[in-house]
Parts: sequence; structure tokens; C-alpha cells
Amino acid sequence: MEISVKDYARECAERGLRGDYSVCRADFTVEQGYDYSDDQQEVWRILCDRQTKLTRRLAHRSYLEGVEALGLLDRIPDFHEVSNKLRRLTGWEIVGVPGLIPNAPFFEHLANRRFPVTNWLRKREELDYIVEPDMFHDFFGHVPALSQPAFADFMQMYGDKGQSVGEIGGEDMFGRLYWYTAEFALMQEPGQPLKAFGAGLMSSFSELQFAVESKDAHRVPFDLETVMRTGYEIDKFQRAYFVLPSFEALRSGLQTADIRSIIKRWKDAPPLDPATI
Ligand SMILES: [Fe+2]
Repeated sequence: MEISVKDYARECAERGLRGDYSVCRADFTVEQGYDYSDDQQEVWRILCDRQTKLTRRLAHRSYLEGVEALGLLDRIPDFHEVSNKLRRLTGWEIVGVPGLIPNAPFFEHLANRRFPVTNWLRKREELDYIVEPDMFHDFFGHVPALSQPAFADFMQMYGDKGQSVGEIGGEDMFGRLYWYTAEFALMQEPGQPLKAFGAGLMSSFSELQFAVESKDAHRVPFDLETVMRTGYEIDKFQRAYFVLPSFEALRSGLQTADIRSIIKRWKDAPPLDPATI
């Protein structure tokens, strides 16, 4: 059964999450409420300045093109302005949310080309690490990629197919696909240097360098079924990064995959250890 906003708000408060769910609509969206202080604007610029020094060198070009096209770096982005630009590029838009939201509304937003972005920013003392996704992670990490047509299609399809995985107990397995693509992925196009992709990497100063440049990073060719079988941990560097040959491979991989069969085949098996795949 779907969880109500009120019950979810209580759950988040008990977990110590900081979003204000009391002002949520039934689909978990909120207004951005653009009233950020000078200090918050400065925190945004510090985060962007510091991270773009790395992303310029290590991020896949489509991500950098997205940042440029959407104009995200000078001040905290206005959700409506960015939505207008994104709509023209790929038909996506941004909706504000107080933080994490349950799977059902998350999948529904994606299936309708709406990307939920947290409406608050981390504090100055949290520049290096924050447990919950905040606006910097969501905006700087996820949104630029939505300007890339094949990835934009993949994300819509992810939301679409995700709406029916819960009924067969496949949310964890399907979540791994998001984790190892939208959050932590590498891209190796023919004749091009290895590049990073995914919001977890884009918004992390140290892991971005590790994933692309370290000889200790474990890099594995992308295979959708293997990805869905591979476990992960959220608060350590990844012990495996899947390497995509192109966004098209990701889109067609999900398009042709029989997700329900994969889930039924493997959901009762223990997850693969990313260190040894
Ligand atoms: Fe994320």
C-alpha cells in the first residue's frame, strides 16, 4: 500500500532527516521557495567552483554540455528557469521535494519526465560530505545529464518500469540499476579517454578522482543483469564501477530487458559481491 505524506513525514522525522514534509502536496512536491541567503548562495558557489575544477577534467562531455546549457554555476538555480530550458532540450522538468521521497511517487515523477530536486542546500560545514541528498547533489549531479536525449529516455523508462517492480519484490534489485548508472558510472567511448558519469560521482570530490584515475578502482563492463545482481554500500567508495560504452547502450539495454524475468530469476539469491565480479 502506498504510504501517505503524513506517515512518511513522521518516518523521516524519526530518522532525523531534515526536509519539511509538512508542506508537501500529495505527490510529495513542494515549491522551491526561492529565498536563499547570501551565505547559502556563497556555499553554492564554493561547491560549484571546487567541483567544476574536477568535472572539467573527469566528467563525460555530455554532462559538461548540460551544465553549460542549463547555466547552473553562478547562483542557486531557479527551478522554473531550469525547467524551461530542460523542456526545450529533452522534455524534462524539475519539481521541488523536501528530500528523499518514497519509491512510488519517485517512479511516477520519472515516468512523466519530472525530476525531483531537494529544495534545501547543505550547510557550510558540510561541504565535503552529507548523508542525505541535498540540492547540490540533485542539481549539480543529476540534472545536467537529463539534457542528454538517450539518458533522458533511459530515466523515463526507468520510472515507467519501476512502477511495477514492487509487486514482485524487485525494488532492491531495480534500485541497483539506478545506483550503478544514475549515481556511479563510467563511460568509455571508442578512442576516447575514460570519463565519469552519475550524480554520486559528480557531487563527490574524492570519489570522482578515485573512480576515473586510481589504479585501485575496480572497473567492469556494463551488463544490465549483472548490475541488478550486484550489491552496494552507500557510505564508502564503490568497490566496482560499471563502464558504459555509450548512453545508447544504456537506453537500448533497458528497453529490451525483461526486468520482471530478471527479478524473478535472482531476487532470492544473495547479491553478487562487487569486489569480485
Ligand atoms: Fe542521487
